[in-house]
Amino acid sequence: MADVTTGTPAAEIGVIGGSGLYALLDDVVEVAVETPYGPPSDSVFLGAVAGRPVAFLPRHGRGHRLPPHRINYRANLWALHALGVRQVLGPCAVGGLRPEYGPGTLVVPDQFADRTSGRVQTFYDGLPLPDGTVPEVVHVSLADPYCPDGRRAVVAAARDHAWEPVDGGTLVVIEGPRFSTRAESRWYTANGWSVVGMTGHPEAALARELGVCYTSLALVTDLDAGVETGEGVTHAEVLAVFARNVDRLRTVLFKALESLPATRDCVCSHALDGVRTGLPGL
Ligand code: ADE
Repeated sequence: MADVTTGTPAAEIGVIGGSGLYALLDDVVEVAVETPYGPPSDSVFLGAVAGRPVAFLPRHGRGHRLPPHRINYRANLWALHALGVRQVLGPCAVGGLRPEYGPGTLVVPDQFADRTSGRVQTFYDGLPLPDGTVPEVVHVSLADPYCPDGRRAVVAAARDHAWEPVDGGTLVVIEGPRFSTRAESRWYTANGWSVVGMTGHPEAALARELGVCYTSLALVTDLDAGVETGEGVTHAEVLAVFARNVDRLRTVLFKALESLPATRDCVCSHALDGVRTGLPGL
C-alpha cells in the first residue's frame, strides 16, 4: 500500500505481465494486496528500475493459473493504484491479422476493439463496495484508450533496441479462451484490425477509469487462423515464441520504464478531472 504516514507511494509505475512473463524484477518485495473487488491475480512484486519504484503483477498468476476470462481485472488495477501506480505497461501475447505481422513483431496499438462478453468492465456500476460506499455513475472518455506518452516511450525504447515496432493499429480483444475460427479471424482483418488477443480489455478501460495511464505492448506470437494456412494457432506455439522474445521484450520494458515522464499531463491523467467518483481514494 502507499505509505499513508509519509505519503510515499510504494510504486509509481506498474507492469502487468502476460503469458510467458511471470517475473520481471530482481530484488523484489512481495506484497499481498487486498481490494474491495477480491484478490488480484497474484501478489504484487515491488522493485526498482533506474531508481524508479516499479510494481510487477503477473496477469495470469504465477504458473498461468487464470485464463483470460477469469482474471479479476478490477482487483488487479485497483491493487496497483492503491500502491501508488499511475502509469501501467501491459505486455501481452497476440496473433497477427496480417501476413506482415509475423511472430516476433512488436505492435504498440493505439486502439482496441472489444469482442469480449460477460466481463466486468467498470468500477462505476452503482453497486455498493463491501464497506458500504457506493460509486457514482461515471462515464470516462475512451476515444484514445492508450497513453500517448507511454506509447511514445515504448516505441522509442524498441527503436533504440533495433526492434522496429508497429506504431499504432487496433488490437481486437476476444473472449477466449479458445482461439478464433478462420471466419472470425478473416472478419477481424477485413475490419482493418491488426492483432488479436484475449486480455487487452477491460484492462485499459479500467485503468482509464482510475485516471491511470495504460500502454499496451502486443508481441505477436503467431499468425492467426485467417492468415495462417496450417492447423491454426496452439497455446504451446504462443508460449514458445513468447519465450524466444522475452529477453528483448524485457529490455524494451526496462528502457521504457526509465523514460516514462515523471509528471503527467496526458489525457489519462485528466480523465477524472472535476469528477466525483464516490470511490475511496479517488
Ligand atoms: N494470443 C496469442 N495469440 C493469439 C491469437 N492468435 N488469438 C488470440 N489471442 C492470442
